[in-house]
Amino acid sequence: MSSNVVWHKHEVNKVTRADSLNQQPRVIWLTGLSGSGKSTMANLLEKKLHAQGKHTYLLDGDNIRHGLCGDLGFSDKDRVENIRRISEVAKLFVDAGVIVLTAFISPFQADRTFCRSLLSEGEFVEVFVDTPLEVCEQRDPKGLYKKARNGEIKHFTGIDSAYEAPSSPEIHLTYREEKAEETAERLFNLLLEKGLV
Ligand code: PPS
Repeated sequence: MSSNVVWHKHEVNKVTRADSLNQQPRVIWLTGLSGSGKSTMANLLEKKLHAQGKHTYLLDGDNIRHGLCGDLGFSDKDRVENIRRISEVAKLFVDAGVIVLTAFISPFQADRTFCRSLLSEGEFVEVFVDTPLEVCEQRDPKGLYKKARNGEIKHFTGIDSAYEAPSSPEIHLTYREEKAEETAERLFNLLLEKGLV
């Protein structure tokens, strides 16, 4: 950043915006392997929050890679940059008073910690969608695991690219045989119990 750039403090700020929306903004950060159910969970959770009149926005891996991060691939370096951009965007949404849901593999602990570090205490809620690789690979909704096993896709998470599972997420969500709606209900209730939604 140039040393000639100065931060402007605005009078309408995070607190006043959150007050006018009558909600506590935060980032509900879903992380997990491809096919773990992050997008499905985030989508169902957003529907529930929306139905309650909450102001939300869902940032989803595949979608964001069509635009903001369309220039990035899946090398470690590009994934770090991907999550850095998403984290900054999520921070802006929180500043706007919005409850942000994110669904990115976000495989590296340091990058998730980076997002947490941009926000205030309690504003970053890490949700580990813990679906084992075997289950994700069996689901293979986009046929990507098959391609990765055939060597058609390189650097695929869980195959030839690392996934660092969260060591102490706010929420540890298992999602295996249970129906998606039931799992999302469980997630919603866990967030409610912890006073996070
Ligand atoms: S990351 O690691 O957080 O930067 O990835 P993300 O932005 O969430 O993008 C993940 C989606 O991209 C598709 N895809 C891949 N995933 C993992 N590894 C490789 N090499 C890859 N290539 C394409 C895949 O559809 C991911 O979507 P999900 O919803 O996670 O299955």
